Amino acid sequence: MRPLLTHLLPAARELAMCDDGVRIKGLARSHWIDYPRATQALEILERLLQTPQRERMPCLLLHGDSNIGKTQIVSKFQRRHPPEYDEGKGVELRSIVAMQMPPTPEQPRFYSSLLFELGAPFNAAARLSALENLSRALLRKVSARMLIVDEVHHLLAGNYREQRASLNLLKFLANDLKIAVVLVGTQDAVLALQTDPQMVSRFARFEVPRWQETEAFRSLLAAFEMILPLRRPSNLARREIVHAILTASGGLTGEVSRVLTVSAELAIRDGKEAIDLGHIENAARTLLS
Ligand SMILES: Nc1ncnc2c1ncn2[C@@H]1O[C@H](COP(=O)(O)OP(=O)(O)OP(=O)(O)O)[C@@H](O)[C@H]1O
Ligand SMILES: [Mg+2]
Repeated sequence: MRPLLTHLLPAARELAMCDDGVRIKGLARSHWIDYPRATQALEILERLLQTPQRERMPCLLLHGDSNIGKTQIVSKFQRRHPPEYDEGKGVELRSIVAMQMPPTPEQPRFYSSLLFELGAPFNAAARLSALENLSRALLRKVSARMLIVDEVHHLLAGNYREQRASLNLLKFLANDLKIAVVLVGTQDAVLALQTDPQMVSRFARFEVPRWQETEAFRSLLAAFEMILPLRRPSNLARREIVHAILTASGGLTGEVSRVLTVSAELAIRDGKEAIDLGHIENAARTLLS
């Protein structure tokens, strides 16, 4: 008889009925899971995007440890606001433009990355003023209202002068084009911005902290359980399991996801069909080695 699989979301129920190989492959698929801090971040981003243009546009620094989920949050936000095509003007409108800070923050490289995102690859060896003018013209053309710069801690890879120049460039874009600038990075990004009092006052800070043993974390685990294609409930929100996952993951969302994926694979392979403490400990050992 087919098990009811009521502990799973409908899409996961289908997958749970597939054979082991298919289920193990399916574990690699990524899913967005809502959690309160991410919801708050998305609300703040939404408010920034809706802010009418004004002289001092509000800006945001979204920060947290590596692998906590920052890029996932901004990607989710971008999916909510996909580019639109303006038939009348014959141009693509992109309210959000997102890019990564190049590994070394020289201004020409910054503009080259931005132009690449805007679909106008440009020679980084061109004059800085040419890159700057083209970037500004294109951001206006696509009616950008928000510029997201991820990996902004790369600023620190530059010397003091380059750091200053990059911070000035970001301020300049925010002021000149009246767009909301959102910087995303690790705690080092906070340090980089602290060298500039104007940046400190201009950029509101929002941290995505590591997980602790809270109700929100138990909900996150329960949400993971609903999408892992196992045929029996694991009850991941149990105290000893919560504790083991926190220890194994260091409270990082990416590690939580990896520990659970490996544990689920072990539970499929050994036929137990539910994650137990032993699976999590084994998964933690596998991930460490
Ligand atoms: N909302 C979410 N739902 C499900 N999984 C998530 C979520 N957020 C993060 N993850 C998991 O955590 C991993 C790391 O997330 P992400 O790449 O956003 O981290 P990051 O904070 O940008 O790290 P880095 O600073 O190193 O770039 C993802 O690949 C995914 O497995
Ligand atoms: Mg990232």
